[in-house]
Amino acid sequence: SQRRKVDEALSLFTLNQEKLQLVKSRMREGLEAGLKSKDCTIKMLPSFVYHTPNGTERGKYLALDLGGTNFRAMLVRSRLYHKIYTIPLEIMQGTGEELFDHLAQCVCDFLDYMGLKKVRLPAGFTFSFPCQQSDIDTGTLVSWTKGFKATDCEGEDVVSMLREAIKRRNDFDLDIVALVNDTVGTMMSCAYEDPKCEVGMIAGTGSNLCYMEELRNIKKLDQSNSILKTNKQTSEVLISDKKDLSGSAGCVWHKAAVKSGLKMCVNTEWGGLGNDRCLEDIITPYDAEVDIHSVNPGKQRFEKLTSGMYLGEIVRQVLLDLTRRGLLFKGHVTETLKTPGIFETKYLSQIESDRLALLQVRSILQQLGLHGTCDDSIIVKEVCGAVSRRAAQMCGAGMAAVVDKIREDRGLDRLSITVGVDGALYKLHPHFSQVLKETVGLMAPQCDVTFLPSEEGSGKGAALIAAVVQQKQEM
Ligand code: BG6
Ligand code: GLC
Repeated sequence: SQRRKVDEALSLFTLNQEKLQLVKSRMREGLEAGLKSKDCTIKMLPSFVYHTPNGTERGKYLALDLGGTNFRAMLVRSRLYHKIYTIPLEIMQGTGEELFDHLAQCVCDFLDYMGLKKVRLPAGFTFSFPCQQSDIDTGTLVSWTKGFKATDCEGEDVVSMLREAIKRRNDFDLDIVALVNDTVGTMMSCAYEDPKCEVGMIAGTGSNLCYMEELRNIKKLDQSNSILKTNKQTSEVLISDKKDLSGSAGCVWHKAAVKSGLKMCVNTEWGGLGNDRCLEDIITPYDAEVDIHSVNPGKQRFEKLTSGMYLGEIVRQVLLDLTRRGLLFKGHVTETLKTPGIFETKYLSQIESDRLALLQVRSILQQLGLHGTCDDSIIVKEVCGAVSRRAAQMCGAGMAAVVDKIREDRGLDRLSITVGVDGALYKLHPHFSQVLKETVGLMAPQCDVTFLPSEEGSGKGAALIAAVVQQKQEM
């Protein structure tokens, strides 16, 4: 019957415990491989952030935050002032110079607004894309993710690009002291409230996670020159911990750091899991369709199953198929249904809201140009539910891999840890956060994981990092 066919399509998105276990162990393998060598599917990018804030951070800092869709400029003092700027599509997909000129223009506007154009402020730059860093204040963009594809940026140092854009304007100055991934900024801002916060997660336009890893486990750092440089942030810590540290440079520093059990935050870029096709038994034909039509086919496979930018597209692919098979919308495939991007995450959140009566779901669909019966609305809601539930479960299994790794590394039977979280999917979707939490509980039963939603976004964390870097520089 029709119902059976719909159920069959939906069952492709069901993950039983066995499958979740597979996701968890593949994530674990991916994390381990990424710590050992470069060019792995999970990049495990060193952040050069060595400790979470200790509460002594003071001063006035600027935080710039290029996230999924917006650019935020903020001033962090005792309180926080901010302004949000949208990034027009033509800029996201234009040239790198245009993009960074636009960012500089936004910063200029913000400084004007705050009356701070004459001051040279220290700034933390949250840049929510994978960067290969060699220190806290430099990093080359590995590849764009999410919808971005501005030219001439990949392989370039994004901090230099921003500095140059500011120089081109020649009407204000900034001291960019830290480059920070949004996961890292989120972890830092939450750690300010809760010292047990050692993981940061974003479930928004993109999907990613960072956590504090023991330096001795980041094997690929042994071979990189960057770590062998004097380390402004930590030499002080190490010198007081290890009296025998003669000179702060080179291997001596690294060995002492490893010995003293120092940690570094690693930006996992877990969205890349599956780029080696290890998720083929989970990926449905609908996901494959979404991937093929994305700006980066074959890349960010895990992200494409779990983040806001893609969930709506997966839903649309399912609806298209069901309609073509005559199981939905009386078999009428409309132009709307064929339009990529109609299902933004906010609609998924609305459709899935338990407080909404079926008639309201129907009217949301109508607003989107999809005219159907109440029965159609039921099916649409079920499709949304299946897709978002799988996303939350995947993230839960991935997170279970991370917290269990931390627990094992510390030789503990039980681990109690806090995860700082941000992103529209986590914060606005009616069920995502609950399913995520349940799945982590199920898949990592020896860990007590507390989720702490970030209050002011990752910019505040970037400002905190800037504060730490500056304090150390001044010492
Ligand atoms: C914001 C952070 O609050 O959340 C950004 O400050 C981050 O750095 C963003 O990228 C992620 O959310 P979304 O849903 O906009 O991708
Ligand atoms: C994408 C980016 C990553 C970012 C995430 C969340 O996955 O590659 O750097 O953290 O989106 O915004």
